[in-house]
Amino acid sequence: MTIGIDKIAFYTPKYVLDLIELAKVRGDEPEKYTIGIGQDKQSVVPNYEDIVTMGANAASKIIDDTDRQLIDSVILATESGIDNSKSGAIYIQRLLNLSEFTRTIELKQACYAGTYGLMQARDYVAAHPGRRVLVIASDIARYGLATPGEVTQGAGAIAMIISDNPKIASINTDSVYMSAERADFWRPLDRTQALVDGHLSTDIYKEMFLTLWQRYCTKTQQTISDFSGFAFHLPYTKMGKKALDEVLDQATAEQQVNLMEKLKASQQLSRQVGNIYTGSVYLSLLSLLSYSDKLQSGEKIAIFSYGSGAEAELYSITLQENFTEYVPRKSVKQLLEGRQKLSVSEYEAVFNSQLFDSHVNVKSEAVSGVTQFQFLGWQNGERV
Ligand code: CAA
Repeated sequence: MTIGIDKIAFYTPKYVLDLIELAKVRGDEPEKYTIGIGQDKQSVVPNYEDIVTMGANAASKIIDDTDRQLIDSVILATESGIDNSKSGAIYIQRLLNLSEFTRTIELKQACYAGTYGLMQARDYVAAHPGRRVLVIASDIARYGLATPGEVTQGAGAIAMIISDNPKIASINTDSVYMSAERADFWRPLDRTQALVDGHLSTDIYKEMFLTLWQRYCTKTQQTISDFSGFAFHLPYTKMGKKALDEVLDQATAEQQVNLMEKLKASQQLSRQVGNIYTGSVYLSLLSLLSYSDKLQSGEKIAIFSYGSGAEAELYSITLQENFTEYVPRKSVKQLLEGRQKLSVSEYEAVFNSQLFDSHVNVKSEAVSGVTQFQFLGWQNGERV
């Protein structure tokens, strides 16, 4: 039985910060951001949205009545959870009117958890043919004003429906993975902004990618020429190039040109959105499928997922017949083009209003707006 990604959707809030303007205010050279780090813009989350609304907004684009009958598991991956006890997936189940006879769960392991969710979903469908699983990866990347990580912030959600006979890509059972305790990035419970040693995490990311690549090639007897492209976790888009550079010399000159072209396609969305942690690797995949016109059905894409702390997984997917018909290319581009620009001072006001103590029960004074699902605050302990 073939199992994999049947549908995929992306949602990001409608506010955007131009990073050239941010560089000027911070006293940095714009080229450091746009070339050195590879980020042009970042989505800014308003106070009326959080990982639940973003996840529901993404999933609502793909769920139809048949899915409502067949989905009996909702897996939410996030490292920006809103509760230490209750899963955000249970709010999403309600917002999407999914059956009460559904399992709902939230997963956490930094940016890696979405991949674990996807693998659980694949195995669940294998054991229960005909069922479908909704996997959502939703996050807000927040490092702090005027910190080195600020340029790599972002917000958004990816939703995927995992089923048998998938329309977009099968998930192959060829994973290699590893975990090793490292202190590169973490966010203790009393903090809204991450603690990070960005250079250390870049080094661990590269190290784990190379280790897993060698392990994968040995295990599967495949080489780089078996892949038509890579989708990397992209905390910032230059990271993808740093990773690919680790293995590119294994390819012929022609393949190298092809892989670099595909890498560029995979970076387009992250360049304009920023890091969305758990969803970033799947934003990279969606970007590759949306911006490359050279992919063919039957071709394989290698996926590298990384989560600080640190855990990583490498596996492949195979593109299905007519997959391009099911990739939401147009609507993703429209979503990004339709965003509203914030000045640096407007962004700072929104950012500051979301620091820990002020987040709950407060509506943003700086921006207001409407989206399909929005968070207005808490009333008598209930989320409204
Ligand atoms: N023109 C062109 N390039 C320039 C430039 C200019 N004027 N000025 C600087 N650069 C280049 C530098 O040469 C450097 O390039 P290389 O990385 O290829 O050497 C690049 O711009 C960045 O410069 P710095 O290293 O000096 O930048 P920095 O010290 O401000 O830190 C960062 C950059 C580490 C990415 C930082 O933004 C950060 O900490 N980000 C958050 C953490 C992060 O994203 N880590 C990545 C892996 S972690 C992970 O994957 C999990 C996760 O999602 C968090």
